[in-house]
Amino acid sequence: MKIYNGGPIFLGILVFLAIALFPFYNNFGKVNAKPEPKVDTPAIQEYEKANGKKECIESKEWMRGEHMQILNQWRDSVVRDYNRTYKSNSHPNAAPFNMSLQSGCMKCHSNKKKFCDECHNYLSVKPYCWDCHIQPEEKEEVKS
Ligand code: HEC
Ligand code: HEC
Ligand code: HEC
Repeated sequence: MKIYNGGPIFLGILVFLAIALFPFYNNFGKVNAKPEPKVDTPAIQEYEKANGKKECIESKEWMRGEHMQILNQWRDSVVRDYNRTYKSNSHPNAAPFNMSLQSGCMKCHSNKKKFCDECHNYLSVKPYCWDCHIQPEEKEEVKS
């Protein structure tokens, strides 16, 4: 019987490396595709028809940096103060928006995979909201 057997040790090292390096190669490829959030949804096109332009509840730049905070404020406002209407600061002419994740944000952004997930996957951010809140049925406008 051999005391030293290289096979199992080598295999052991391979298995160890495979597990230790998993976070790196598992992100490979996902990280390289730059996020391109799409805003072509039926609700946004309807909004554009009615208002002459596509717009979010606030400016795009502001939304990009602050949407996590505004979602928290909306939740507090609804749950603590029973206030469900939001008046935009940057679009004073826009009709009040419905302060709701599902019936507000996700009504317009009904393409969660091609919008929210597009950025979040790129950055490996995983909001836990969908543990409770229902994800929208994916809806996007097919460009003709
Ligand atoms: C009335 C429809 C509508 C609602 C409601 C709405 N959005 Fe938007 N959102 C848009 C449109 C249209 C754009 C693109 C705006 C532009 O290009 O100026 C956008 C842009 C954004 C962006 C920036 C995307 C980028 O490419 O940088 C984020 C983030 C965002 N929305 C998140 C949200 C969140 C979170 C909510 C709810 C708190 C919400 N939106 C509610 C229509 C909406
Ligand atoms: C333009 C890119 C972009 C888009 C589009 C986008 N997000 Fe985000 N989101 C981010 C970034 C970046 C962060 C992380 C910010 C941080 O950690 O400070 C984030 C974080 C969040 C968080 C906080 C998560 C946490 O664990 O802290 C929530 C909630 C969230 N996004 C909801 C949404 C929803 C809902 C949508 C779609 C309607 C959306 N986001 C669309 C870029 C985006
Ligand atoms: C543990 C379950 C749970 C999780 C996780 C959760 N929520 Fe909620 N959320 C609720 C409940 C329950 C309400 C109250 C529903 C109502 O009054 O309409 C609520 C209400 C809200 C509201 C206001 C009402 C509405 O229609 O949307 C917002 C906005 C909101 N949550 C955002 C978030 C965001 C953003 C996340 C993730 C960062 C999140 N929630 C995670 C359970 C949850």
